Amino acid sequence: MSEPGGTRKTPFELLGGADKIRTLVEKFYDVMSEREPELARLHPCDPDGRVARTPRDRFALFLIGWLGGPEDYVQQHGHPRLRMRHGRVAVNIAMRDAWMRCMHAAMDAENISDDVRVFLDGRFAEVADFLRNAPD
Ligand code: HEM
Repeated sequence: MSEPGGTRKTPFELLGGADKIRTLVEKFYDVMSEREPELARLHPCDPDGRVARTPRDRFALFLIGWLGGPEDYVQQHGHPRLRMRHGRVAVNIAMRDAWMRCMHAAMDAENISDDVRVFLDGRFAEVADFLRNAPD
């Protein structure tokens, strides 16, 4: 993605780096815990029903590398193999749409807009649909 003046930047850089992506992921799982209980329950949760620390940290680490930042997720956990890692999760249209609602709400709350928003909207929708593995 190029900035005015033509310098090419990764989504990781355009979003403002690792801390901004971690903030986005926190917001994503907070929205999920508050508004999408059925989706939240698919994840490891704390006693208060909120999505736990481990899935939050793993998704943040993945997203940082996936968007062009340090590949620490791959270093620590190997290739993402997203379909395999979602194999035990029933991902149908209802859960895909709930996931997307949470990500859109989180990106809105973090004021993510312009080219990088268009890019993320498209990529997340593509991968979320690719992960469908259960009938509706
Ligand atoms: C389409 C709807 C989706 C559902 C219902 C879903 C559900 C889940 C659940 C339940 C987990 C936790 C697994 C566990 O810790 O036991 C998880 C982990 C994860 N998800 Fe998804 N997910 C969805 C979409 C996505 C998308 C679009 C991405 C990538 C852009 C993604 C990336 C990940 C990653 C990286 C992990 C951590 C895997 C690991 O290291 O264990 N997910 N997902």
